[in-house]
Amino acid sequence: MTKVLITGASGLIGSGLSKKLIAINFQVNHLSRSKKNIPNVSTFIWDLNKKEIDANSLKNVDVIIHLAGAGIAEKRWTDQRKKEIIDSRVESANLLYNEISKLDSKPKVFISASAIGYYGAVTSDKTFVESDPHANDFQGTVCKLWEESSKQFENLGLRTVQLRFGVVLSEKGGALEKMMLPTKFGIGSALGSGKQIIPWIHIDDVINIILESIKDENMSGTYNVVAPSKNNYNEFTKTLAKVMNKPFFMPNVPAFVLKLALGEMSEIVLEGSHISSEKIIQSGYEFKYPDLTKAFENLIK
Ligand SMILES: NC(=O)c1ccc[n+]([C@@H]2O[C@H](COP(=O)([O-])OP(=O)(O)OC[C@H]3O[C@@H](n4cnc5c(N)ncnc54)[C@H](OP(=O)(O)O)[C@@H]3O)[C@@H](O)[C@H]2O)c1
Repeated sequence: MTKVLITGASGLIGSGLSKKLIAINFQVNHLSRSKKNIPNVSTFIWDLNKKEIDANSLKNVDVIIHLAGAGIAEKRWTDQRKKEIIDSRVESANLLYNEISKLDSKPKVFISASAIGYYGAVTSDKTFVESDPHANDFQGTVCKLWEESSKQFENLGLRTVQLRFGVVLSEKGGALEKMMLPTKFGIGSALGSGKQIIPWIHIDDVINIILESIKDENMSGTYNVVAPSKNNYNEFTKTLAKVMNKPFFMPNVPAFVLKLALGEMSEIVLEGSHISSEKIIQSGYEFKYPDLTKAFENLIK
């Protein structure tokens, strides 16, 4: 039975992934900042400030899935928050690295979340591919450091995979839930120019791609994890209103309002370019939800 350790498993992706892994007979350990009682899961504690980790969490583990991280869009980007965003991803990986380097029997695979923020907050006609360089803005820097901290596990003989997630669409939280609320009251609108691309992905495809990364020994290195379809913000919000059977007439929220409200963080919603999903398709992955309308129809019941 394959044993998987998931960090940040109480979050949007980790909770869905855990359910799926348990359903297909994987053994699941969680590494969390606090004790949680989750059926069929053994939860172990780590404390990143004290650099402490329960070593039992790694006993006989085959695969590590590193999802932990302070929410990028949760709080304004003060210097302190920026440090927290980086440390919660990078220092946590370093802590795991130190612990694993002491083990005689090491895990075989290290899979880490990353994000399409790697390519930076930019709206352009370019389609970004995995071999493009990282951007030098905050998100680009976070992703570069995050991926490097994950690639270091190759020094210990592990196969590593870095998954650059787009905006994950789920009925249970994340970006879609926030967008659905105004749309429900008939006041949904696009943000900024509305021409920025939203590289999105259905949660089921995220979970299936993580599963493929576990099973397919040929997978290693970075992969964009976004649906193949190219939708800008205007199309995205209009399609959402249509699937929800709601009117769509509100003007776009001007960029300056968002910049005032959110500061530098507003770039997350105001900028976006198309990101290629060709590499993951070439690896043999077939998307369950390549189309935005179908994804919304499945998620919005
Ligand atoms: N959802 C998306 O659209 C999206 C897009 C791109 C990239 N990603 C990345 O993919 C990963 C998983 O995404 P998600 O949506 O499942 O995230 P999430 O719902 O925000 O969950 C992340 C988990 O990380 C742990 N965590 C939070 N703050 C932390 C801190 N300061 N130090 C250490 N651990 C902390 C928490 O688990 P415990 O409370 O159990 O410790 C939390 O449940 C994240 O790193 C995220 O940045 C997500």
